[in-house]
Amino acid sequence: MEGLSSRELRVIACRVAGEAAGYLRDLREDYSVFKKVSSGKETIVADKKAEDYIVDLLKNEGFRGIIVTEESGVVEVGGERLIAIIDPLDGSFNYACGIPWCSVSIGFARCRRGFLNDVVAGAVQPIYYPHASYSFSSVEGVFVGGEKVSRDDVERNLELIGYNTIALYCESSVALKSVEKILRAKNYSFRVRSLGCASLEIIATSLGKMILFIDARSKLRCVDVAVALGISRLLNASFSSINGDEVKARIDFIDKIDSLILSPKKEYLNWALNVLGSKE
Ligand code: IPD
Ligand code: CA
Repeated sequence: MEGLSSRELRVIACRVAGEAAGYLRDLREDYSVFKKVSSGKETIVADKKAEDYIVDLLKNEGFRGIIVTEESGVVEVGGERLIAIIDPLDGSFNYACGIPWCSVSIGFARCRRGFLNDVVAGAVQPIYYPHASYSFSSVEGVFVGGEKVSRDDVERNLELIGYNTIALYCESSVALKSVEKILRAKNYSFRVRSLGCASLEIIATSLGKMILFIDARSKLRCVDVAVALGISRLLNASFSSINGDEVKARIDFIDKIDSLILSPKKEYLNWALNVLGSKE
């Protein structure tokens, strides 16, 4: 697979993520998949089963590189200069509760050691909206299902839908304190959502369906955001840490993201960083 174009890698990511989403829809019939794999760990049986399923699908597609995946960490399946970075089930809690906002993420980078912006193609497949897959390749841009998305679509969404909605994750008092200035900003009244599947909310924000995505908790990992941020980059969304620093996580192991603030427009990101007192 090393020699495949990013266009071809996008097709494979869509196929594997689509099959894994179908597998997870079927798996939900069986209540035992909501059990924790071991006490003290967040992982439920469905996370692990989906991961094993995706690893097998990738091997059957001919993938021979390293697979960086949420539950098992780094899995070596051959010597090619390729990374597959996967979150087999983003939004496990939603999935277990029957809240249909959850997804499968699969991305590819042509290296064995790299950073978020080395991801050249990938797909985020909402588990319960099979036709609305989100995918990108570095040469083609971003697709929703089979349709290419343009910057005009983003502007239109922002004007009609997203102009005053923020996706906000700040569950600790420290995190809440770090972002409260945004909520107190004069002349603004925001609608706030914390929907439980970071990849889908990052994509929704990049598509202009929200004006800001803010995660102030230091809880996200590269697997949660790698593909979603690839989509953000190609849609010209702007993002940084809440201190205004570059988000530069590694993708060859489960690296952490300190914090993330993202907007479909640079001017809104700058406004938010300014309100927070961070550098622009
Ligand atoms: C979770 C979701 C959620 C975020 C959590 C993540 P997971 O992913 O993305 O939005 O709040 O921090 O852990 O664990 O269900 O893959
Ligand atoms: Ca997960």
